[in-house]
Amino acid sequence: MVDVNSAARVLVFDSGVGGLSILSHILQRLPSLNVSYVMDDACCPYGEKADAYLQERMQLVMARAIERCQPDLVVVACNTASTLSLQSFRQAFSLPFVGVVPAIKPAYEKTTSGAVVLLATAATVQRDYVMDLWSRFGRGRSLIRLACPELVAMAENKVRGQSIDTSQWQELVETLRDKVNAELKGGESVEAFVLGCTHFPLLRDELMQAWRDPCLWLDSGVAVAERVADLLAPSEQAQSRKSDALGHRHKGQKIAARAIHRESNTGEASATCWHTSAQIDVSLAERLASHRLQLAGCLFE
Ligand code: DGL
Repeated sequence: MVDVNSAARVLVFDSGVGGLSILSHILQRLPSLNVSYVMDDACCPYGEKADAYLQERMQLVMARAIERCQPDLVVVACNTASTLSLQSFRQAFSLPFVGVVPAIKPAYEKTTSGAVVLLATAATVQRDYVMDLWSRFGRGRSLIRLACPELVAMAENKVRGQSIDTSQWQELVETLRDKVNAELKGGESVEAFVLGCTHFPLLRDELMQAWRDPCLWLDSGVAVAERVADLLAPSEQAQSRKSDALGHRHKGQKIAARAIHRESNTGEASATCWHTSAQIDVSLAERLASHRLQLAGCLFE
């Protein structure tokens, strides 16, 4: 039985704090949503793990998270996870899933002739999914793919309030510049950077400042928030079309009913955070609280 007296419940999933860069756009778009943020921090970083291990691990965490949080919709706020397991999540769980994938298509649409640089995890840059996006939307232009695992650790530290080590940052930026220059073809320049890991928008200001040359810096946050809003509160006709396409007609109607109530709900959003490590440090707990996320505890306890 559908309880229309509660707001829609959305589960936002990432390996660590990266999904906060997506969550902020979702909450900006839908301020009174009930959110469960789930981070598999015991296993972060995902980008350095083997695909087979990750697939098994993520199914386990996702099953537990869905059981605990009972969401109406799941946002896989992780490019590494989405480009690997979105299809298998959709097959395993009868819920709508919104994935986060690198903004390669908009990068080529919004630029004219220069190269596009994809900054992502080691896992994401070598995915078939990425190559497929490039061959469909790249218009024969360059895609320079760079794995930046250090940025994941730096973003994790930044959210914990730790300052970035200046010499490590300088070295990283110089390496990045060298690698990009080595791959640019004669006369080509960089027109856009795609932040293809949800941790990286947390360092956008630092990256833009370090790169200096004017170019576009793109991520998928706004598009994902729009997609979530669209699935939660579409017109009845669009909803039935979409839920048919997704094979979730019943679930879609349930979401719409909750969402309609949400429109008139003026209360504060409820947002809780689950983790998979036995304990998280005080600085992270404080930072999560500043994102209005209350700690719920360890998912496996
Ligand atoms: N935030 C994740 C992504 O978007 C992964 C970072 C990691 O755990 O390596 O890919």
